[in-house]
Amino acid sequence: MKAVVWHAVGDVRLDDVPEPKVQEPFDAIVRITTSAICGTDLHFARGTMPGMKEGRVLGHEAVGVVEEVGPGVRNFRPGDRVVVPSTVACGSCSYCRAGYYAQCDNANPGGPLAGTVFFGGPEAAGGLDGLQAEYARVPYAHTGLVPLPDSVDDGQAVLLSDIYPTAWFGAKLAEVGRGDTVAILGGGPVGQAAIACARLQGAGRIILVDGLPDRLDLAARQHAETVDFNAEDPVTAIRDLTGGIGADRVIDAVGVDAQRPAHGPAAEQADREQFEREREQAAPEAAPKGDTWVPGNAPSQAARWAVQAVAKAGTIGTVGVYPPQVETYPFGEAFMKNLTLKSGNCNHRAYVPHLVSLVATGALDPTPLITRWSATQDAVDAYTSFDRRESGWTKVAIGLGGEGAMPPGSGEQAGYGTATTAGTGGPEAR
Ligand SMILES: NC(=O)c1ccc[n+]([C@@H]2O[C@H](COP(=O)([O-])OP(=O)(O)OC[C@H]3O[C@@H](n4cnc5c(N)ncnc54)[C@H](O)[C@@H]3O)[C@@H](O)[C@H]2O)c1
Ligand SMILES: [Zn+2]
Ligand SMILES: [Zn+2]
Repeated sequence: MKAVVWHAVGDVRLDDVPEPKVQEPFDAIVRITTSAICGTDLHFARGTMPGMKEGRVLGHEAVGVVEEVGPGVRNFRPGDRVVVPSTVACGSCSYCRAGYYAQCDNANPGGPLAGTVFFGGPEAAGGLDGLQAEYARVPYAHTGLVPLPDSVDDGQAVLLSDIYPTAWFGAKLAEVGRGDTVAILGGGPVGQAAIACARLQGAGRIILVDGLPDRLDLAARQHAETVDFNAEDPVTAIRDLTGGIGADRVIDAVGVDAQRPAHGPAAEQADREQFEREREQAAPEAAPKGDTWVPGNAPSQAARWAVQAVAKAGTIGTVGVYPPQVETYPFGEAFMKNLTLKSGNCNHRAYVPHLVSLVATGALDPTPLITRWSATQDAVDAYTSFDRRESGWTKVAIGLGGEGAMPPGSGEQAGYGTATTAGTGGPEAR
């Protein structure tokens, strides 16, 4: 079968690999109809998340049709249309039962303290092959699959694997409540999705910070108030917009690949030497090729802005990834403001079923976030365009098609989401 395979930092290819087989009683084999490329995949290609093994199939976002189940799987059968949550969890341990699927005791072969398991990630994250492939093996499928109604199309559903659950979780971590002013750092797919999630959780105002015009435009079309960090100092802008108080809640949807401003007033304030030291710590094995696979040049920039832009006694929810080798955080400043800091890997399975319902009813419509639809052949080109953040390449879905595939826009409520009001307009959309 065809699959997107990680060979080395800066080396991602479309290869022919063997089809997966049922290995354990609770496994399922899913024929993938739609997959997607995520900002997390870019960390592997840029070298900001280490420990990948050569030959690993990438991808942790997919929709498909169950092909085969092991004898332990009683709640799915071949032919069922499903979305695959990104993290893998046993469904039986005390952590899973409490909804902390990302901290499952049993999924990681390294033991209960070995960390979150997800598809297509480093060896330390379980060493599982990913979902950017024609077929995938899903362990603990009784918990690791969520059924889809035919009213939810592939384009909507593939964003429920990781992007919307992470955004929902980010808003939860930030303790978003009724009337809150929420600042979102990062207008990638996670930050964009956080607009609708924060809104559905009661936010009164939403301010989104990024430095890319097309992403700021997509956020503006969702009626967020936007701040371009290359044109204004985002901390000053957020304070000015909030009567000097700052945002009640901040969601960091950037993480370790943060950029410092290239121009504007905030560019002058950036401590380049400090950021350069952080970059060496964060990405010791970086292997950029020209302007591709370049790690962020200011790993702690978003964390610093979050702490500065949040109101006293406010809350920061961090879902942008910071890997273990990153040790810089403005902790003293956060301490002095009595901040609440929450972070971590999304407990996807806890949120996916509810999000499927929200899409099915039309309250939430992820359709506008898919700005590029790629066939498998150009998956690697899609990786590089997405990595370079070329205009319009905000979220890339890989359409594999086949029986059971539902193209984007074919969902019953596609185009009608009340919380996602970007519509399908705009020259670059879809
Ligand atoms: N916690 C989890 O479980 C989880 C799940 C999924 C994704 N993630 C992480 O969330 C982050 C976002 O994912 P994505 O797919 O949206 O990635 P992305 O790379 O597409 O988006 C990041 C965005 O941040 C912007 N940015 C860069 N520096 C910035 C700064 N200093 N301030 C504000 N914005 C800045 C970029 O221009 C870009 O638009 C990534 O770190 C990803 O790994 C975490
Ligand atoms: Zn993802
Ligand atoms: Zn578990």
